[in-house]
Amino acid sequence: MMETVVSGIRSTGNLHLGNYFGALKNFLKMQKENNCFFFIADYHALTTHPKPGDLHGNIKQVLAEYLACGIDPEIATVFIQSDVPEVTELYLLLNMNAYVGELERTTSFKEKVRKYPDNINAGLLTYPVLMAADIIIHKANKVPVGKDQEQHLEMTRKFARRFNMIYGVDYFPEPDAYNFGRKLIKIPGLDGSGKMGKSEGNGIFLSDTPQEIRKKVMRAVTDTGPTARNQVPSEPVKNLFTIMKVVSDPSTVKYFTEKHASCEIRYGDLKKQLAEDIINVTDPIRKRINDILSDNKYLARVVREGAEKARMSASKTIREVREIIGYKPF
Ligand code: TRP
Repeated sequence: MMETVVSGIRSTGNLHLGNYFGALKNFLKMQKENNCFFFIADYHALTTHPKPGDLHGNIKQVLAEYLACGIDPEIATVFIQSDVPEVTELYLLLNMNAYVGELERTTSFKEKVRKYPDNINAGLLTYPVLMAADIIIHKANKVPVGKDQEQHLEMTRKFARRFNMIYGVDYFPEPDAYNFGRKLIKIPGLDGSGKMGKSEGNGIFLSDTPQEIRKKVMRAVTDTGPTARNQVPSEPVKNLFTIMKVVSDPSTVKYFTEKHASCEIRYGDLKKQLAEDIINVTDPIRKRINDILSDNKYLARVVREGAEKARMSASKTIREVREIIGYKPF
């Protein structure tokens, strides 16, 4: 069934291998089977106070990377959040029925309070309301979310349900998580534990050059080597195998798995091979990123057409919502 899907990405930092294999690659199929809205969440990005001189460049970079990965603006609606001011109106309206208590109890908010006690702004508090507005303004049924966004989606459902209840309507659908069928792949970082992240300094970015990738992979954490036959690999080594499984040929994985089992493995060889196989995946993307970044006319057209399509959908919702709330023309 053709469903409406909304997905946003904050315009902070470049995309890494984890973003690609964990989400973006799955979006390529999803966009063909659904009515997809993909946007750059550049209002959300303001919670961390980016410098005016950096804001546009960050947005442009993430947009180019999305497109380079195969997000297709001819099929999906690709736009910049701040080009659709209707979303801020819905955000304001939803804020009237969002309670400070429930917002304060959000895990992501509590984490921010702990980590950045000097910047607990109201935008952070109401982050889930803006996210809900992003989603329900297109009356989405599905949202592809990772673990860290599940609670936000739950709150979106709550705000949609609450609006319907208050006004006695069946207007907003309650969106569900998009189900990719098989389990999503979690790409670990190169630092031995945990997943690849933007801020952890353990990532390989799609825009990294081959030299940078070789350097990062050669420095990845391993161990002192297996000491007994068929020993279970330590976590850092298992992590390198996990990455290898997504970028390398199965025969390569088999070769190094056997070398590990027989204690003959040389991690230097494994890393050399892994680096080349990663480069094989990322280098065509990196080249496309650079081509797209240098084609401002193309980017301007994508953004203009995307905004037009997104605003068409958003302004219809706002018109109807205002009417439901009771606004009337004189
Ligand atoms: N909060 C999401 C994140 O940090 C980004 C986001 C903003 C989003 N609005 C959204 C995701 C709407 C899905 C739908 O990753």
